Amino acid sequence: MEIISTTKKMQEHADSVRRLGKTIGLVPTMGFLHEGHLSLMREARKRTEHLVVSIFVNPTQFGPGEDFDAYPRAFERDAARAEKEGVDVIFAPVETELYTKEFQTYVVLEKIPKHLCGISRPTHFRGVATVVAKLFNIVKPDTAVFGRKDYQQFVLIRRMAIDLNFDIEIVGFPTVRESDGLAMSSRNSYLTPEQRRSALSLYRSLIEGRKLVKSGIKNSSRIIDSASKLINSHKETDIDYISICDPETLVEMEIIDRPAIMALAVKVGKTRLIDNMMLNPSEGMTDDPSAY
Ligand code: PAJ
Repeated sequence: MEIISTTKKMQEHADSVRRLGKTIGLVPTMGFLHEGHLSLMREARKRTEHLVVSIFVNPTQFGPGEDFDAYPRAFERDAARAEKEGVDVIFAPVETELYTKEFQTYVVLEKIPKHLCGISRPTHFRGVATVVAKLFNIVKPDTAVFGRKDYQQFVLIRRMAIDLNFDIEIVGFPTVRESDGLAMSSRNSYLTPEQRRSALSLYRSLIEGRKLVKSGIKNSSRIIDSASKLINSHKETDIDYISICDPETLVEMEIIDRPAIMALAVKVGKTRLIDNMMLNPSEGMTDDPSAY
């Protein structure tokens, strides 16, 4: 496994791999790798011949007062985990490699960032779209794999790839969970044992939402009410939003008369956690991950 830290070297490497006729897979990450990230790598490995994982804690997607400085970093451990998954290259640039002093070009989507996390994190998706567009131009992948755990991010990148004609297949991989259901996240490492118990209420409220839909309830507000009661009954929780929305546009749906995404963001202590699940009124509850 090779570790590349400059954009120029990465682009030259991508060109040489492409000249050999090999396809390139990319899994962008901010590091502190867990089983969720590793699953994306396995998926990319299956689909492509040369696997690149980027590790870069992207400053432009953190707002003022957010956890950029505190964000967990463990490069040596990450490199060992990636190597075990058969990763060919880790692209790990320093900040000045991606953002020079004169940097001034951002990718802004008009509609998708106006919903869900974009409301309380107004500059977040501009940072995400910009860094991912840069990574696409540097790593030159045929396929890029993203987690549906960050559902809005996945939808945004898929839209950006279409709108800007990136000739890249965007794959969305189902959420990988701890055995009790908590969605894996690098930020789970911030939680105290008690907060970890409260954090489980996100998953529980989504499962409860699915049960209600299965029992025939179509009214979003009833499902959101029950979810917020459940989450508020746990210590140190502070709900940012609970939304039931269209899976493509993320526009809220009052009545669940077709598949919808139930998405939520909750602060547990100081840690902001997100999760989501597909609600499908025609199928009711399913554990089939391909339903996400
Ligand atoms: P990060 O939070 O490190 O996540 C990297 C990728 O792993 C994302 O596609 C994310 O959706 C996916 N992922 C995280 N937890 C997951 C889980 N439990 N199951 C499945 N996939 C999971 O998302 C980012 O970094 C950044 O915004 C990035 C896209 C790298 C741009 O900076």
